[in-house]
Amino acid sequence: MDLKPSNKFYVTTPIYYVNDVPHIGHAYTTIAADILARFNRIQGKDVFFLTGTDEHGQKVEKASQERGKTPKEHADIMVENFKSLWKKLNISNNAFIRTTDTEHIKTVQGLIQLLWDNGEIEKRQYSGWYCTPDERFWTEKDLVNGNCPDCGRAVEQIQEENYFFLMSKYQDRLIKYIEDNPSYILPETRRNEVLGFLKNNTLGDLCISRPKARLSWGITFPFDDKFVTYVWFDALVNYFSATRYLAPHAERAAAGDFWWPADHHLVGKDILTTHAVYWSTMLMALKFPLPNNIFAHGWWTVDGKKMSKSVGNVVDPNKMIDNYGTDAFRYFLFREVPFGLDGDFSEDALVKRINTDLANDLGNLLSRTLTMIEKYREGKVPQPVESLDREGMEKKIKAWFGPASCISADCEDFLRQLQFNNALARIWKIISESNEYIAASVPWKETDEGVLSNILYTLAESLRLISIYLYPFMPDTANNIWNQLGIASDISSINLEETAKWGGLKPGTTTQKGEQLFPRIETKKETEKTKGGKGAMTESGQASAEQKPEEINLISIEDFAKVKLKIGRVLEAERVPKSKKLIKLQVDTGEQRQIVAGIGHVYAPEDLVGKLIAVVANLQPAKLMGVESQGMLLAATDSDGVLSILMPEKNVKEGATIK
Ligand code: MSP
Repeated sequence: MDLKPSNKFYVTTPIYYVNDVPHIGHAYTTIAADILARFNRIQGKDVFFLTGTDEHGQKVEKASQERGKTPKEHADIMVENFKSLWKKLNISNNAFIRTTDTEHIKTVQGLIQLLWDNGEIEKRQYSGWYCTPDERFWTEKDLVNGNCPDCGRAVEQIQEENYFFLMSKYQDRLIKYIEDNPSYILPETRRNEVLGFLKNNTLGDLCISRPKARLSWGITFPFDDKFVTYVWFDALVNYFSATRYLAPHAERAAAGDFWWPADHHLVGKDILTTHAVYWSTMLMALKFPLPNNIFAHGWWTVDGKKMSKSVGNVVDPNKMIDNYGTDAFRYFLFREVPFGLDGDFSEDALVKRINTDLANDLGNLLSRTLTMIEKYREGKVPQPVESLDREGMEKKIKAWFGPASCISADCEDFLRQLQFNNALARIWKIISESNEYIAASVPWKETDEGVLSNILYTLAESLRLISIYLYPFMPDTANNIWNQLGIASDISSINLEETAKWGGLKPGTTTQKGEQLFPRIETKKETEKTKGGKGAMTESGQASAEQKPEEINLISIEDFAKVKLKIGRVLEAERVPKSKKLIKLQVDTGEQRQIVAGIGHVYAPEDLVGKLIAVVANLQPAKLMGVESQGMLLAATDSDGVLSILMPEKNVKEGATIK
């Protein structure tokens, strides 16, 4: 593996407080980092994906006291909630940092010592307004109605000696840095907010110690053991300290700063200031490079309201996974709302996405494709016959994955910019077009075996490629599709560039059609419909596996009225050269039209001349083996393969309408 730093990718999540159980907000950032990590891994990069827990400070101390435990005992219990959730969510972090790790503690102490030695820290008498729950000092003018501007709770006046990081002297440098590096803070609206804040306020120095008399649960100051480190200073250092003892090839990293700086720090909008201002200036003072990007995502509300324990509307990710599955939950969070904006969570919206995007679009595409391969090719991926590309349809599909385009470049672009929803929308465009391709090529009516093989191969190969792009978002689903297509390898170990080329699916591969990827979830409306006895749904609301694809979707009378059916008289009939099945007919349906039909293995052309037949008169013309067909003749085929052309029982005039 190429270990050049240019080939590395380092992504972090915030480290989560262990005073509470994980909620949807924690899951959101961690899945985002997982998507990026997985995508970069299949791109062949050496990836370090870090998450962890923030275990010091007043909040944790208080929570542990309430439970009658020591802070460390409490943290040891709480940390498991995060670890088990990450497992359930299929999170592929390389490491899990805890700020109580000895190595982390040593790094924090070492860096404080370095800053102290370099004159970046001063001891001062301090008096200020202190918000105990938030563990933050505020100046008089920060207060809102005398309360904490962040949480609105009461503040108290505190006087004490403390150590200060001389942050203020970096104000101008930080402004310039943000201005010179447009993608340092994203999205742009957040970048502008930070710049506005920095330009319109005088940055103070940062109090980075707490007297042990007031708070003992923290990292002891290296040169003054009467103090512990302010929890944010301790926590932010995790991004650096982990590269020294938890990262892959940590020895090399320690020697040559292999992992540092990080590529992305993903954070919620509420903790952007601590990252954009505290962390950036800390790094400047330490003379370390700044991360490439800090990205602040939006917040989830629930049915329009802020999540809160007192309201009782906190979304538990474990419950969502138990009810709807990991991949559906992962998909929903990143399809529904652009990363960076606030979003509203509702189970109705989640179910809608599952039923439409996952069950209908993706699930049906797979099950229709595999059902047809089983039915028409005994479950073996057929050999495509490219020369039979009808209307260039297969070429068009192939081009979506082709080198000059397309999905690969688009997905890479979108993921580089953290536009997860756009990447998914791009993938879904291909899924929809593949479904449309089935409808347009009508494989169950195809009579030319080569053309049919071509269609089936194209569908299966599209699904193989679609799975590759789905993989970072829905790893299990992608693997499942691969298994059903009969591909033995694990999708997580692929190299994107090598594997995402058209033609990778070997003809002859035995497919293994499995369970539905995403069974439809019955909504109230559907339950009522089913109870009324209407529709072709089974009890679960899922179209039954035996149904032919064309029977699955009911259409309205308005849709049916769009089809113009007419009676026509066959004027002439002849075989299409080199085809066993195709017959070219000249038909009078009130006007003369040419129709090509796959009936030559059952009917002789001369038997057809003079007969009245039923015709679809408003089909878009299509070419069959290079011969234009201006409509379609109706014929019935039964399960034994007996084919019979529909003919009216009485003599009606040419052009008579069928209703
Ligand atoms: N420990 C600090 C982070 C230190 S990083 C060096 C912390 N922890 S936290 O557990 O309180 O929060 C972690 C993350 O959850 C933050 O990024 C925050 O934005 C995110 N969220 C909390 N509620 C959220 C929503 N309702 N929606 C989305 N994310 C939310 O802060």
